[in-house]
Amino acid sequence: MPILPDALKQRLATPLKIGRVEVASRVLQSPLSGVTDLVFRRLVRRYAPDSMMYTEMVSASELHHMQQLPKLMDIDPNERPVSIQLFDCRPDFLAAAALKAVAEGADTVDINMGCPVNKITRKGGGSSLLRHPQMAAEIVRSVAAVVDVPVTVKTRIGWDDDDINAVEFGLRMQEAGAEMLTLHGRTRSQGYAGTARWEWIAQVKQALSIPVIANGDIFSAEAAARCLVQTGADGVMCSRGTLGYPFLVGEIDHFLKTAELRQPPTVAERLRCAREHLIMLAEYKGVRGIRQARKHMAWYAKGFEGAADLRDRLCQIETVEEGCELLERAIALLSHSSKSEQRRHGEAFERSPTFISA
Ligand SMILES: Cc1cc2nc3c(=O)[nH]c(=O)nc-3n(C[C@H](O)[C@H](O)[C@H](O)COP(=O)(O)O)c2cc1C
Repeated sequence: MPILPDALKQRLATPLKIGRVEVASRVLQSPLSGVTDLVFRRLVRRYAPDSMMYTEMVSASELHHMQQLPKLMDIDPNERPVSIQLFDCRPDFLAAAALKAVAEGADTVDINMGCPVNKITRKGGGSSLLRHPQMAAEIVRSVAAVVDVPVTVKTRIGWDDDDINAVEFGLRMQEAGAEMLTLHGRTRSQGYAGTARWEWIAQVKQALSIPVIANGDIFSAEAAARCLVQTGADGVMCSRGTLGYPFLVGEIDHFLKTAELRQPPTVAERLRCAREHLIMLAEYKGVRGIRQARKHMAWYAKGFEGAADLRDRLCQIETVEEGCELLERAIALLSHSSKSEQRRHGEAFERSPTFISA
């Protein structure tokens, strides 16, 4: 485990200041489309009560044409702090959407300038804004002009290896009024492949005065510590590491606050969490929730004997009862192995980044 230098440790012990919003944790749960709904955030928050969480990204154009707000924007009155993430390329639509986000209770409004998906970049949103910094700045200015909460930006280090512009881009966002920048250390053309290049995050942190959050390949407390030492960033944001593992943000937060590693959950504890996740999703979204739960269940069921078979079955469930029965049977079988044995599996599972390719 890397030793955090004293100056960094002292900074990490203070609240993260995003404009006038203070957050008591330096570990954030990223926006993940199809994942970070109200139910998932509730599970993450149980282990990381102080952390900032993000909704899935919401299209400002679609919002413009909707009579009712989408479920994507649901915020639990008890969940704080929380940010609603928006994407689009039209400053006027984004400003209007941001007002709705604030009315829903968002503590900050985040603009997605990092999504690599063609469907979104073709229309000028997500990471394509990296190639149009003037438009990106106009977006930040327009949104910041109408809302009374901080506007933040989440982006990547550049479009491709020939066009890495994270420092200039970050400076422009700051100048336009962004109050925090989250940087995923990959280019758009990298997608999720290769490793996140934290050295670029270090350069951006050096250049900007607003908080810079490091994102990319944070799969453990050890990785978070290494990233913070290497980048000097103001915090870290967890993403794929939380798929089927809502414990990660809390584990890292605990480590940064106490310098002690929290005991990872056993496989049985993970599967119990999967069961709860399934029940909550079905209650919240009905049949659609059960279908969405299949992929979550598959993410939970990793790293123990019989996991592949359980995964296959969980991916086909039609009812909550079916899913619960499968999980309960697996938990009963696991009860024959000792807790420490289960934990060992849990550690191997949690530390391996390969299981979570997007
Ligand atoms: C399934 C999935 C959905 C994602 N959805 C979003 C999103 O809605 N908004 C966003 O800014 N980034 C989104 N991302 C990107 C992540 O937030 C994060 O930047 C990226 O996965 C890098 O971090 P990692 O290497 O720790 O996974 C998504 C990534 C994945 C794998």
